[in-house]
Amino acid sequence: MPGAQTLTLSMPEPDVALLTFDTPDKSANVLASAVLDELSAHLDTLEARDDLAGLIIQSGKPGMFIAGADLREFVASLDIEKEKIAQMCRRGQTLFGRLSKCNFVTVAAIDGICVGGGAELAIWCDRRLMSSGEKTEIGFPEVKLGLFPGWGGTARAPRMVGLGNAVEMITGGESIDANAARGMNLASDVVAPAGLLPAAIAMIRQEQATGDYLRDRQTWSGPLPISEAELGFLGATASAVIRGKTRGHYPAPEAALEVMLEAAASDVEAACQLEADGMAQLFGSSVNASLLNVFFLTDRNKKDVGIDGDAGSNLQPAAVHSAGVIGAGIMGAGIAAANIRRGVSIVIDDASKETLRKNAQSILEEAAFDRALKGPAAHRVAELAPILELCTIDQQFAGCDVVIEAVVENLDVKRQVFARIEPQLSDTAILASNTSTIPITSMAEKVKHPERFCGIHFFNPVRRMKLVEIIRGEKTSDETVLTAVAYAKRIGKMPIVLNDGPGFLVNRLLFPYMSEALALLAEGAKIKDIDRAAKAFGMPMGPIELYDLVGIDTATFAGQVMSDAFPERIVGSPILPAMVHAGRLGKKSGLGFFNYQNKRGRPEPDPGLDTFLAEYIQGDRTFTRDELTDRLFMPMLLEATRALEDNIVRDPRDIDLGLIFGLGFPPFKGGLMFWADRVGAKTLVEKLKPMESVGVRMKPTQLLLELAESGKTFYPSTM
Ligand code: NAI
Repeated sequence: MPGAQTLTLSMPEPDVALLTFDTPDKSANVLASAVLDELSAHLDTLEARDDLAGLIIQSGKPGMFIAGADLREFVASLDIEKEKIAQMCRRGQTLFGRLSKCNFVTVAAIDGICVGGGAELAIWCDRRLMSSGEKTEIGFPEVKLGLFPGWGGTARAPRMVGLGNAVEMITGGESIDANAARGMNLASDVVAPAGLLPAAIAMIRQEQATGDYLRDRQTWSGPLPISEAELGFLGATASAVIRGKTRGHYPAPEAALEVMLEAAASDVEAACQLEADGMAQLFGSSVNASLLNVFFLTDRNKKDVGIDGDAGSNLQPAAVHSAGVIGAGIMGAGIAAANIRRGVSIVIDDASKETLRKNAQSILEEAAFDRALKGPAAHRVAELAPILELCTIDQQFAGCDVVIEAVVENLDVKRQVFARIEPQLSDTAILASNTSTIPITSMAEKVKHPERFCGIHFFNPVRRMKLVEIIRGEKTSDETVLTAVAYAKRIGKMPIVLNDGPGFLVNRLLFPYMSEALALLAEGAKIKDIDRAAKAFGMPMGPIELYDLVGIDTATFAGQVMSDAFPERIVGSPILPAMVHAGRLGKKSGLGFFNYQNKRGRPEPDPGLDTFLAEYIQGDRTFTRDELTDRLFMPMLLEATRALEDNIVRDPRDIDLGLIFGLGFPPFKGGLMFWADRVGAKTLVEKLKPMESVGVRMKPTQLLLELAESGKTFYPSTM
């Protein structure tokens, strides 16, 4: 067999075979087609023997069983015919299916991550033993890639764990831990990692003695014991839940549900055929390609150290154990909580000691937030309390490796803070600002060590928003960038490194879109049509509702910064200052474009709005959905091409990561630049032509024209 091998066969006992997955030089085991060939060859050998009591499948990598199929092979196959996709599925099903038909007992001994194709391999075994190790989990995340399990997952899982459990796992895509797996009979038992192999051998002996596995083989290959009425009820409720979550943008969960319902009355073989045919419909779709792109964007981000070339590999980031935060308002509190949650101790200060005291408890509760509880876990609050230190004297910052300023957005106030804190810091500590609008280079002018100064811009709410912009000032050193990037990852964030410029990246791209919404409003478009067009494109909310959420005063201020920087493109609308003047500040004041004075604080139409806006509405044009979509998103795209031209961003893929994780740009579109590449630069230039009269902001940029001319894409041709 060519190349280094992943599978090794050994015999821990004379009648027990052990296959160990361990892809050389890789941190994860993936089921590339060469690995499937290896498995097939080993099964040929083992099936020919008549002296075996059992086969155990394990991983040689602690904490990592099998991470699934090889997604690079998926990307390379996106364009192949549907028939071939179905054949690829059938091949995997047949191969793994052999594990349920051997003349000996098969046991998957799972320590660590067991997902996707790895979980499918495991569920074709007669038994699954899972370790109690912290990293151990099992799941079917395929829907997150716009697919569903295609190697028998949808056929075998319902028969093993019940249709309801299988539907939840496969359509939701979330993994479960070993105890939850045992609870639904997905794991036969849970043992300590070190005891996995002896327990697997004991299990083989026991199964041979009882013959239980043979009875289960029978049950799991037949139809599901479920009535038509139960099936109908489960289908209707699951479908409603799925639609609520996907809003019709993600077809895979619903398709998975349909396949499982349709196959319920059939045997496992027919269910596998249905699965293969269904997978062929999803594979290669635009949603599938886009979600694969998002996977590779995040994977690339995990490996990106923040600087390119030799410096990136020669320099090392400094470790961050302790951080300081100045300003305990919305952002400072969120940043402090994110640190504590990940075990980075915090010293926090605020000009108002009352705010500081008041917010300390909520910082701890935020840090101890538990998704399952939808609130703080009391024991975590107690555990984390010792690493939150409230500042009484500035010297407390001396031990911090990073100090982040998150005080009011005022250059003078921020400079005073730096002048006070910088002398306290060690020779290696980084000083950073969370500003959203003030240039990093201008702040760095007054600090003593501009090489150790940068922007670390978090997004609101910090717990939910994964993106962090790391902004280089003119003098920021490579070491500082490396450390800031490693630190952001340490606290669970996705950092993108930018050069300094107005609005950095995300806000720079957001504002052309937001201000276009106001321009459309003034030309006669209806608020509900504008917001619906954005939501139909896939945005989590429309731009008008977003104004209310951000706060009309904050948006006015940030918009002013952008229109000062780019006056020819961003024309300030008189609507926002008028709203601020009238006290319509958005959600926080109960009234903005919408009314929030209802029990749940939901946006409701405000009957007084039309009268209020009347003097600012100059036109009565009607717009089609497509016209609205183009008017909203083309300014965002053009601004992205300018950010590339201005060298603000290092790679077009950082724009996509930034917008998806900082703004909620729809993952099913793969990102703004990925979407633009799929539309094609030539078509985009054509789209702009009818909008020329709108203003220079709709003029195609040099970069876009060049791509249209050359037929090239924003993304590099190889991923
Ligand atoms: P905030 O008004 O909630 O909090 C600011 C805090 O700073 C207040 O508690 C105030 O008492 C304190 N403060 C003021 N002067 C101080 C001083 N000299 N020393 C110590 N503390 C002082 O403001 P927020 O929203 O947390 O914003 C903070 C920074 O984060 C600003 O630069 C803002 O532009 C930026 N930012 C805000 C985002 C948001 O959505 N709110 C998002 C990203 C960045």
